Amino acid sequence: MKRILLAFSFALSACATAPEPAPRWSIVVHGGAGVIERANLTPELEAQYRAAMNRALATGGEILERGGSSLDAVEAVIRGMEDDPLFNTGRGAVFGADGKNHLDASIMDGSTRAAGAVADITHTRHPIGLARAVMESSPHVMLIGEGAEAFGQTQGLEQVPPSYFFTERRWQQLEAELRRRNLPIPARPEGAPPAPQSLQTYPDDHRFGTVGVVAFDTHGNIAAGTSTGGTTAKQWGGVGDSPIIGAGTYAQNGVCGVSATGTGEYFIRVGVAREICARMELRHETAQAAADHVIAEVGATTNAAGVAGDGGVIVMDGRGRAVWAFNTPGIYRASQFAGGTPVVQIFADEGEDDE
Ligand code: GLY
Repeated sequence: MKRILLAFSFALSACATAPEPAPRWSIVVHGGAGVIERANLTPELEAQYRAAMNRALATGGEILERGGSSLDAVEAVIRGMEDDPLFNTGRGAVFGADGKNHLDASIMDGSTRAAGAVADITHTRHPIGLARAVMESSPHVMLIGEGAEAFGQTQGLEQVPPSYFFTERRWQQLEAELRRRNLPIPARPEGAPPAPQSLQTYPDDHRFGTVGVVAFDTHGNIAAGTSTGGTTAKQWGGVGDSPIIGAGTYAQNGVCGVSATGTGEYFIRVGVAREICARMELRHETAQAAADHVIAEVGATTNAAGVAGDGGVIVMDGRGRAVWAFNTPGIYRASQFAGGTPVVQIFADEGEDDE
Protein backbone atom coordinates (compact mmCIF):
# COMPACT_ATOMS: atom_id res chain seq x y z
CA MET A 1 0.00 0.00 0.00
CA LYS A 2 1.14 3.47 -0.86
CA ARG A 3 1.57 5.71 2.11
CA ILE A 4 2.70 9.28 2.22
CA LEU A 5 3.10 11.63 5.15
CA LEU A 6 2.98 15.26 4.17
CA ALA A 7 6.11 17.13 5.06
CA PHE A 8 5.26 19.92 7.43
CA SER A 9 8.30 22.13 7.58
CA PHE A 10 8.00 23.10 11.21
CA ALA A 11 11.34 23.36 12.97
CA LEU A 12 11.74 20.63 15.56
CA SER A 13 11.27 21.95 19.04
CA ALA A 14 14.30 21.98 21.34
CA CYS A 15 12.17 20.09 23.83
CA ALA A 16 11.54 16.62 22.45
CA THR A 17 8.22 16.27 24.26
CA ALA A 18 6.71 19.61 23.17
CA PRO A 19 3.82 19.02 20.77
CA GLU A 20 4.32 20.12 17.18
CA PRO A 21 2.61 23.50 16.77
CA ALA A 22 -0.68 23.38 14.89
CA PRO A 23 -0.81 25.39 11.66
CA ARG A 24 -3.09 28.43 11.75
CA TRP A 25 -5.07 26.86 8.94
CA SER A 26 -4.63 23.89 6.69
CA ILE A 27 -6.31 22.32 3.66
CA VAL A 28 -6.02 19.01 1.82
CA VAL A 29 -7.71 18.19 -1.48
CA HIS A 30 -8.12 15.13 -3.70
CA GLY A 31 -9.31 14.93 -7.28
CA GLY A 32 -9.87 11.20 -7.46
CA ALA A 33 -7.78 8.04 -7.48
CA GLY A 34 -7.24 5.53 -10.25
CA VAL A 35 -4.88 3.92 -12.70
CA ILE A 36 -3.12 7.25 -13.06
CA GLU A 37 0.38 6.55 -14.37
CA ARG A 38 2.95 8.57 -16.31
CA ALA A 39 2.43 6.29 -19.30
CA ASN A 40 -1.22 7.27 -19.66
CA LEU A 41 -1.09 10.95 -18.71
CA THR A 42 0.31 13.26 -21.41
CA PRO A 43 2.53 16.13 -20.19
CA GLU A 44 -0.19 18.59 -21.25
CA LEU A 45 -2.88 16.78 -19.28
CA GLU A 46 -0.59 16.35 -16.29
CA ALA A 47 0.06 20.11 -16.34
CA GLN A 48 -3.70 20.76 -16.48
CA TYR A 49 -4.31 18.57 -13.44
CA ARG A 50 -1.47 20.14 -11.47
CA ALA A 51 -2.77 23.62 -12.32
CA ALA A 52 -6.30 22.62 -11.26
CA MET A 53 -5.04 21.27 -7.94
CA ASN A 54 -3.05 24.45 -7.34
CA ARG A 55 -6.19 26.50 -8.10
CA ALA A 56 -8.09 24.42 -5.56
CA LEU A 57 -5.48 25.18 -2.88
CA ALA A 58 -5.49 28.87 -3.78
CA THR A 59 -9.29 29.07 -3.55
CA GLY A 60 -9.43 27.39 -0.16
CA GLY A 61 -6.28 29.05 1.18
CA GLU A 62 -7.55 32.52 0.38
CA ILE A 63 -10.75 31.90 2.40
CA LEU A 64 -8.89 30.37 5.32
CA GLU A 65 -6.16 33.04 5.37
CA ARG A 66 -8.74 35.77 5.88
CA GLY A 67 -10.32 33.87 8.75
CA GLY A 68 -13.15 32.28 6.74
CA SER A 69 -14.71 29.04 7.90
CA SER A 70 -13.56 25.56 6.98
CA LEU A 71 -17.09 24.89 5.69
CA ASP A 72 -16.87 27.85 3.30
CA ALA A 73 -13.45 26.72 2.11
CA VAL A 74 -14.62 23.15 1.50
CA GLU A 75 -17.71 24.27 -0.39
CA ALA A 76 -15.88 26.87 -2.51
CA VAL A 77 -13.12 24.47 -3.55
CA ILE A 78 -15.56 21.70 -4.45
CA ARG A 79 -17.76 24.13 -6.42
CA GLY A 80 -14.71 25.02 -8.52
CA MET A 81 -13.95 21.35 -9.11
CA GLU A 82 -17.59 20.66 -9.99
CA ASP A 83 -17.24 23.25 -12.75
CA ASP A 84 -13.96 21.77 -14.04
CA PRO A 85 -14.39 19.07 -16.74
CA LEU A 86 -11.15 17.39 -15.60
CA PHE A 87 -12.85 15.85 -12.58
CA ASN A 88 -15.55 13.22 -12.16
CA THR A 89 -18.09 15.52 -10.59
CA GLY A 90 -20.47 18.20 -11.83
CA ARG A 91 -19.48 19.14 -15.37
CA GLY A 92 -17.22 16.24 -16.33
CA ALA A 93 -19.04 13.59 -14.29
CA VAL A 94 -19.21 10.03 -15.60
CA PHE A 95 -22.43 8.69 -17.12
CA GLY A 96 -24.71 6.01 -15.78
CA ALA A 97 -25.77 3.12 -18.04
CA ASP A 98 -28.89 5.12 -18.92
CA GLY A 99 -26.76 7.86 -20.55
CA LYS A 100 -27.43 10.34 -17.73
CA ASN A 101 -25.20 11.95 -15.10
CA HIS A 102 -26.25 11.08 -11.55
CA LEU A 103 -24.38 13.27 -9.05
CA ASP A 104 -23.76 12.68 -5.35
CA ALA A 105 -22.24 14.92 -2.68
CA SER A 106 -21.88 15.31 1.08
CA ILE A 107 -20.50 17.80 3.57
CA MET A 108 -19.92 17.69 7.32
CA ASP A 109 -19.24 20.37 9.91
CA GLY A 110 -16.84 19.01 12.53
CA SER A 111 -17.79 21.70 15.05
CA THR A 112 -21.36 20.43 15.42
CA ARG A 113 -21.25 17.13 13.50
CA ALA A 114 -24.08 18.49 11.39
CA ALA A 115 -24.07 16.88 7.95
CA GLY A 116 -25.85 17.09 4.63
CA ALA A 117 -25.84 14.75 1.64
CA VAL A 118 -27.55 14.34 -1.73
CA ALA A 119 -27.67 11.50 -4.23
CA ASP A 120 -28.90 11.04 -7.80
CA ILE A 121 -28.83 14.72 -8.69
CA THR A 122 -29.37 15.50 -12.39
CA HIS A 123 -30.14 19.24 -12.60
CA THR A 124 -28.42 21.10 -9.77
CA ARG A 125 -25.19 22.72 -10.98
CA HIS A 126 -23.39 22.40 -7.65
CA PRO A 127 -24.38 19.29 -5.71
CA ILE A 128 -22.06 20.30 -2.85
CA GLY A 129 -24.10 23.50 -2.42
CA LEU A 130 -27.25 21.41 -2.29
CA ALA A 131 -25.68 19.10 0.32
CA ARG A 132 -24.83 22.14 2.43
CA ALA A 133 -28.37 23.47 2.06
CA VAL A 134 -29.71 20.09 3.24
CA MET A 135 -27.44 20.36 6.29
CA GLU A 136 -28.33 23.95 7.13
CA SER A 137 -31.94 24.36 5.99
CA SER A 138 -33.66 20.96 6.17
CA PRO A 139 -34.42 18.58 9.02
CA HIS A 140 -32.73 15.75 7.09
CA VAL A 141 -29.16 14.60 6.57
CA MET A 142 -29.72 13.03 3.15
CA LEU A 143 -32.07 13.79 0.26
CA ILE A 144 -32.20 11.94 -3.04
CA GLY A 145 -33.34 12.44 -6.63
CA GLU A 146 -36.29 14.61 -7.56
CA GLY A 147 -37.11 15.43 -3.95
CA ALA A 148 -33.60 16.72 -3.35
CA GLU A 149 -33.81 18.91 -6.43
CA ALA A 150 -37.26 20.21 -5.52
CA PHE A 151 -35.78 21.20 -2.17
CA GLY A 152 -32.83 22.86 -3.95
CA GLN A 153 -35.22 24.96 -5.98
CA THR A 154 -36.86 26.20 -2.79
CA GLN A 155 -33.37 27.31 -1.74
CA GLY A 156 -32.76 29.17 -5.01
CA LEU A 157 -29.92 26.89 -6.11
CA GLU A 158 -28.89 27.12 -9.76
CA GLN A 159 -30.51 24.54 -12.05
CA VAL A 160 -29.02 23.46 -15.38
CA PRO A 161 -30.14 21.18 -18.23
CA PRO A 162 -28.57 17.68 -18.09
CA SER A 163 -26.48 18.49 -21.20
CA TYR A 164 -24.54 21.01 -19.07
CA PHE A 165 -22.72 18.06 -17.45
CA PHE A 166 -21.83 16.38 -20.78
CA THR A 167 -18.19 15.82 -21.76
CA GLU A 168 -17.01 13.71 -24.68
CA ARG A 169 -14.37 12.02 -22.55
CA ARG A 170 -16.97 10.59 -20.19
CA TRP A 171 -19.32 9.64 -23.01
CA GLN A 172 -16.57 7.62 -24.67
CA GLN A 173 -15.80 5.93 -21.33
CA LEU A 174 -19.48 5.02 -21.06
CA GLU A 175 -19.63 3.52 -24.55
CA ALA A 176 -16.46 1.49 -23.92
CA GLU A 177 -17.75 0.18 -20.59
CA LEU A 178 -21.18 -0.73 -21.98
CA ARG A 179 -19.55 -2.57 -24.91
CA ARG A 180 -17.30 -4.44 -22.48
CA ARG A 181 -20.34 -5.49 -20.46
CA ASN A 182 -22.44 -6.23 -23.52
CA LEU A 183 -25.06 -3.65 -22.54
CA PRO A 184 -27.04 -1.40 -24.91
CA ILE A 185 -25.59 2.03 -25.68
CA PRO A 186 -28.14 4.81 -25.14
CA ALA A 187 -28.59 7.74 -27.57
CA ARG A 188 -26.30 10.72 -27.03
CA PRO A 189 -28.04 13.12 -24.65
CA GLU A 190 -30.17 15.90 -26.07
CA GLY A 191 -28.07 19.05 -26.45
CA ALA A 192 -24.73 17.18 -26.54
CA PRO A 193 -22.34 18.21 -29.32
CA PRO A 194 -21.83 15.82 -32.27
CA ALA A 195 -19.20 13.11 -31.78
CA PRO A 196 -15.71 14.38 -32.72
CA GLN A 197 -13.46 12.71 -35.31
CA SER A 198 -10.51 12.14 -32.99
CA LEU A 199 -10.36 11.55 -29.27
CA GLN A 200 -7.82 12.35 -26.61
CA THR A 201 -6.85 9.50 -24.27
CA TYR A 202 -7.21 9.83 -20.52
CA PRO A 203 -6.07 7.74 -17.54
CA ASP A 204 -8.56 5.27 -16.13
CA ASP A 205 -10.24 7.01 -13.22
CA HIS A 206 -13.76 6.16 -14.31
CA ARG A 207 -14.45 3.57 -11.68
CA PHE A 208 -13.83 5.82 -8.74
CA GLY A 209 -12.96 9.39 -9.64
CA THR A 210 -14.32 11.75 -6.99
CA VAL A 211 -13.25 15.07 -5.51
CA GLY A 212 -12.92 15.89 -1.84
CA VAL A 213 -11.63 18.53 0.53
CA VAL A 214 -10.85 18.70 4.25
CA ALA A 215 -10.08 22.06 5.83
CA PHE A 216 -8.99 23.26 9.28
CA ASP A 217 -9.69 26.93 9.91
CA THR A 218 -8.22 29.60 12.18
CA HIS A 219 -10.98 28.90 14.74
CA GLY A 220 -9.89 25.25 14.97
CA ASN A 221 -12.95 23.96 13.11
CA ILE A 222 -12.67 21.05 10.70
CA ALA A 223 -15.01 20.47 7.75
CA ALA A 224 -14.99 17.80 5.06
CA GLY A 225 -16.83 17.40 1.77
CA THR A 226 -16.95 15.02 -1.17
CA SER A 227 -18.62 15.18 -4.60
CA THR A 228 -18.78 12.69 -7.47
CA GLY A 229 -20.50 11.41 -10.57
CA GLY A 230 -20.02 7.89 -9.16
CA THR A 231 -18.95 5.00 -11.36
CA THR A 232 -19.26 4.74 -15.14
CA ALA A 233 -22.29 2.78 -16.34
CA LYS A 234 -23.77 2.41 -12.87
CA GLN A 235 -27.25 0.90 -12.96
CA TRP A 236 -30.47 0.77 -11.02
CA GLY A 237 -29.86 3.91 -8.99
CA GLY A 238 -26.62 2.59 -7.54
CA VAL A 239 -24.95 4.97 -5.09
CA GLY A 240 -21.37 4.76 -3.82
CA ASP A 241 -19.72 6.03 -0.66
CA SER A 242 -19.36 9.73 -1.51
CA PRO A 243 -22.74 10.88 -0.15
CA ILE A 244 -22.67 8.46 2.79
CA ILE A 245 -21.64 10.20 5.99
CA GLY A 246 -19.19 7.89 7.76
CA ALA A 247 -18.12 6.16 4.55
CA GLY A 248 -17.01 8.87 2.08
CA THR A 249 -17.01 11.89 4.41
CA TYR A 250 -16.60 12.59 8.12
CA ALA A 251 -15.53 15.49 10.34
CA GLN A 252 -15.23 15.86 14.10
CA ASN A 253 -13.44 18.79 15.68
CA GLY A 254 -10.39 17.85 17.71
CA VAL A 255 -10.26 14.42 16.08
CA CYS A 256 -10.33 14.28 12.30
CA GLY A 257 -11.70 15.15 8.90
CA VAL A 258 -11.83 12.61 6.07
CA SER A 259 -12.80 12.50 2.40
CA ALA A 260 -12.51 9.29 0.41
CA THR A 261 -12.22 8.31 -3.24
CA GLY A 262 -12.52 4.71 -4.30
CA THR A 263 -14.73 1.86 -5.33
CA GLY A 264 -17.59 3.03 -3.19
CA GLU A 265 -19.14 -0.29 -2.26
CA TYR A 266 -16.01 -1.32 -0.33
CA PHE A 267 -15.75 2.07 1.34
CA ILE A 268 -19.34 1.73 2.52
CA ARG A 269 -18.76 -1.82 3.78
CA VAL A 270 -15.64 -0.81 5.74
CA GLY A 271 -17.20 2.47 6.92
CA VAL A 272 -13.96 4.13 5.92
CA ALA A 273 -14.28 7.73 7.08
CA ARG A 274 -15.80 7.00 10.48
CA GLU A 275 -13.48 4.03 11.01
CA ILE A 276 -10.43 6.25 10.52
CA CYS A 277 -11.80 8.83 12.96
CA ALA A 278 -12.74 6.16 15.51
CA ARG A 279 -9.22 4.74 15.44
CA MET A 280 -7.83 8.22 16.00
CA GLU A 281 -10.29 9.07 18.77
CA LEU A 282 -10.41 5.80 20.67
CA ARG A 283 -7.06 4.16 19.93
CA HIS A 284 -5.16 7.44 19.70
CA GLU A 285 -3.66 6.40 16.40
CA THR A 286 -2.02 9.06 14.26
CA ALA A 287 -3.91 10.13 11.16
CA GLN A 288 -1.34 8.31 9.03
CA ALA A 289 -1.55 5.06 10.99
CA ALA A 290 -5.35 5.11 10.95
CA ALA A 291 -5.53 5.94 7.25
CA ASP A 292 -2.98 3.25 6.36
CA HIS A 293 -4.81 0.65 8.42
CA VAL A 294 -8.23 1.36 6.95
CA ILE A 295 -7.01 1.55 3.33
CA ALA A 296 -5.32 -1.83 3.93
CA GLU A 297 -8.70 -3.11 5.15
CA VAL A 298 -10.33 -1.87 1.94
CA GLY A 299 -7.63 -3.65 -0.05
CA ALA A 300 -8.27 -6.86 1.87
CA THR A 301 -12.04 -6.72 1.32
CA THR A 302 -13.33 -8.57 -1.71
CA ASN A 303 -16.62 -8.67 -3.57
CA ALA A 304 -18.51 -11.74 -4.75
CA ALA A 305 -16.16 -12.03 -7.75
CA GLY A 306 -13.10 -11.95 -5.48
CA VAL A 307 -12.09 -8.45 -6.56
CA ALA A 308 -10.50 -6.33 -3.81
CA GLY A 309 -11.31 -2.69 -3.08
CA ASP A 310 -9.13 0.20 -4.16
CA GLY A 311 -8.91 3.94 -3.70
CA GLY A 312 -7.64 6.38 -1.12
CA VAL A 313 -8.35 8.99 1.52
CA ILE A 314 -7.24 12.43 2.59
CA VAL A 315 -7.25 12.89 6.36
CA MET A 316 -6.77 15.89 8.64
CA ASP A 317 -6.03 15.36 12.31
CA GLY A 318 -7.61 17.46 15.06
CA ARG A 319 -4.69 19.92 14.94
CA GLY A 320 -4.76 20.51 11.22
CA ARG A 321 -2.06 18.12 10.08
CA ALA A 322 -2.93 16.46 6.78
CA VAL A 323 -1.99 13.05 5.42
CA TRP A 324 -3.14 10.76 2.64
CA ALA A 325 -3.10 7.04 1.97
CA PHE A 326 -4.07 5.06 -1.14
CA ASN A 327 -3.55 1.72 -2.86
CA THR A 328 -3.92 2.85 -6.48
CA PRO A 329 -1.15 3.84 -8.93
CA GLY A 330 -2.09 7.48 -8.48
CA ILE A 331 -4.41 10.00 -6.88
CA TYR A 332 -4.66 13.71 -7.64
CA ARG A 333 -3.83 15.24 -4.28
CA ALA A 334 -2.70 18.54 -2.83
CA SER A 335 -2.21 20.22 0.51
CA GLN A 336 -1.15 23.48 2.05
CA PHE A 337 -1.03 25.07 5.48
CA ALA A 338 -0.69 28.70 6.57
CA GLY A 339 2.73 29.99 5.62
CA GLY A 340 3.65 26.74 3.86
CA THR A 341 4.40 25.83 0.26
CA PRO A 342 1.65 24.15 -1.78
CA VAL A 343 2.21 20.42 -2.30
CA VAL A 344 0.67 18.88 -5.43
CA GLN A 345 1.22 15.23 -6.29
CA ILE A 346 -0.30 12.73 -8.72
CA PHE A 347 1.73 9.53 -9.05
CA ALA A 348 2.30 6.96 -6.32
CA ASP A 349 6.06 7.47 -6.19
CA GLU A 350 5.87 11.23 -5.61
CA GLY A 351 6.73 12.40 -2.10
CA GLU A 352 8.31 9.09 -1.10
CA ASP A 353 11.34 10.93 0.24
CA ASP A 354 9.05 12.64 2.75
CA GLU A 355 8.17 9.39 4.48
N1 GLY B 1 -16.44 6.80 -4.76
C1 GLY B 1 -17.44 7.14 -5.68
C2 GLY B 1 -18.49 6.14 -5.81
O1 GLY B 1 -18.28 4.99 -5.47
O2 GLY B 1 -19.56 6.45 -6.28
